[in-house]
Amino acid sequence: MTDTTVQPLTRSPAWQALLRHRDSTGATDLLSLFRDNPDRAKEFRLETDRLVVDFSRQKISGETLSLLYELAEQQGVRSSIRDLVNGVRVNTTEDRPALHIALRSQAEHIVVDNGNIMDGVRDGLLAMANMVEAIHRGEIRGSTGKPFRTVINLGIGGSDLGPRLAVQALRPFRQSELDVRFVANIDYQDLQSNLAGADPQTTLFILASKSFTTLETLTNACSAIDWLQQGGCKNVFRHFIGVTANPGAAVDFGIMPDRVLEFGAWVGGRYSLWSTIGLPIALSVGMEYFIRMLAGARYMDEHFVETPLAENIPATLALIDIWNTNFLDAETLAVIPYDHGLSLLPDYLSQLMMESNGKNVTRSGTPVDCNTEMVIWGAAGTNSQHAFFQLLHQGTRNIPVEFLAGVNTNSGHPGHQLKLVANCLAQGEALMLGRNPVAGEPWRHFPGNRPSTTILYDRLTPYVLGQLLALYEHRTFVQACLWDINAFDQWGVELGKELAKVIIDELESGKVSEKHDPSTRQLLEHCLRSRNRTGPA
Ligand code: F6P
Repeated sequence: MTDTTVQPLTRSPAWQALLRHRDSTGATDLLSLFRDNPDRAKEFRLETDRLVVDFSRQKISGETLSLLYELAEQQGVRSSIRDLVNGVRVNTTEDRPALHIALRSQAEHIVVDNGNIMDGVRDGLLAMANMVEAIHRGEIRGSTGKPFRTVINLGIGGSDLGPRLAVQALRPFRQSELDVRFVANIDYQDLQSNLAGADPQTTLFILASKSFTTLETLTNACSAIDWLQQGGCKNVFRHFIGVTANPGAAVDFGIMPDRVLEFGAWVGGRYSLWSTIGLPIALSVGMEYFIRMLAGARYMDEHFVETPLAENIPATLALIDIWNTNFLDAETLAVIPYDHGLSLLPDYLSQLMMESNGKNVTRSGTPVDCNTEMVIWGAAGTNSQHAFFQLLHQGTRNIPVEFLAGVNTNSGHPGHQLKLVANCLAQGEALMLGRNPVAGEPWRHFPGNRPSTTILYDRLTPYVLGQLLALYEHRTFVQACLWDINAFDQWGVELGKELAKVIIDELESGKVSEKHDPSTRQLLEHCLRSRNRTGPA
């Protein structure tokens, strides 16, 4: 529905004030900002009980921030946050609330459709805890009576990235000998490499899919069934647990009803690691640490809901994102964790932020009249220093960088950690300070004045991880409020899925429709002519 009476965002008073501010202050020099305000490092920093967030190296002054907070007020961020936590149907195109916060809440009641969803949340956690205990104790076994040793999560997108990240990040907190692996891609090589070395009789598959209709996941599940059968497992469904918001489809697929863990349709896929989708995390680190992760997220939820905008970390970082994107024309945000445990964070955030806010229409269906989400990318430091940091330091683009680092380590090796942290701090400093040109050697010039934010924590624990991920969820939500878009749908992934179905049929039948565009037809015909040919290596 198009509401033409709505004033475009870029013509709104707060936006116009920000434009005037940007134009009147001209090119911002970070070093001058520090010179003008000796307390800047202290003032442009916020903290939780575990995180220190330093945004003093962003190209913002006190006035910039005040104007950004006015934009947040104008866009109704406060009331949108209330709507989110109160279960209002903020996902308007799918007519659902987005209640990932409920998954870590200790509230007695959160009402959706006249029902208290907290009963279901508690039941879900209990069912998961029972399942974890039964698997750890070897009470749930495979079809040949052997306890499970390997767990393979079959899922994609939100049914993969969050659990995969958390299992890796929390490896030092592992409580079980289970070898937890992840397969997402429909490319058989992914499954193949993860089946290598696993014994079918001691392998448990988690079939993780909110919709239980996802092509990649169901295709991998069918191949997993073949592998189990070839490996001598007769009752293959004793090797499966289904995790889904569509339990009927899971049972129809063959999953035993008492092996289905449910979660609510009001949990968005990319916000679902806190739900039973987190089963691989709990199998790896145990329920106690899983619950600590929820507690960390809950701390951030309370901070987000209760703290005034000017001290609100997710809101402040979202406003800085808007400033960088819409006023300083940044196209991308590089996320660089100096913590190998978080090396999957850029992948996870690329789904969270780009699938949530890569949109071009407002909540009322009118075109957004400015850029929305940046391209989120990155890789772990220090590896990335030896790969793409050249471009960050001397390339021609404005690329804000987000550094994350644990001051202490889970690795038990303080010597490595010291060098890791030193590199993190040095990169932020180098990006800002730059280096003067050497006469006759312009290639040695570092322009500097490049913005970054640094998030420090003590050690990457389940609690810290929960805080961090909830921070990014809420930051994503505030961005969406500012742009007036729905962060919780993902219609942009549908078209490609539909066209792929048509092409799958054509590749199977060998008949190419005339309806394709000439390029697709030609490529398709080439595939048909060339398939099953194995050329020289
Ligand atoms: O195609 C996008 C998407 O719907 C994501 O939003 C989701 O996380 C992923 O696919 C997997 O979906 P499902 O959990 O339903 O298999």
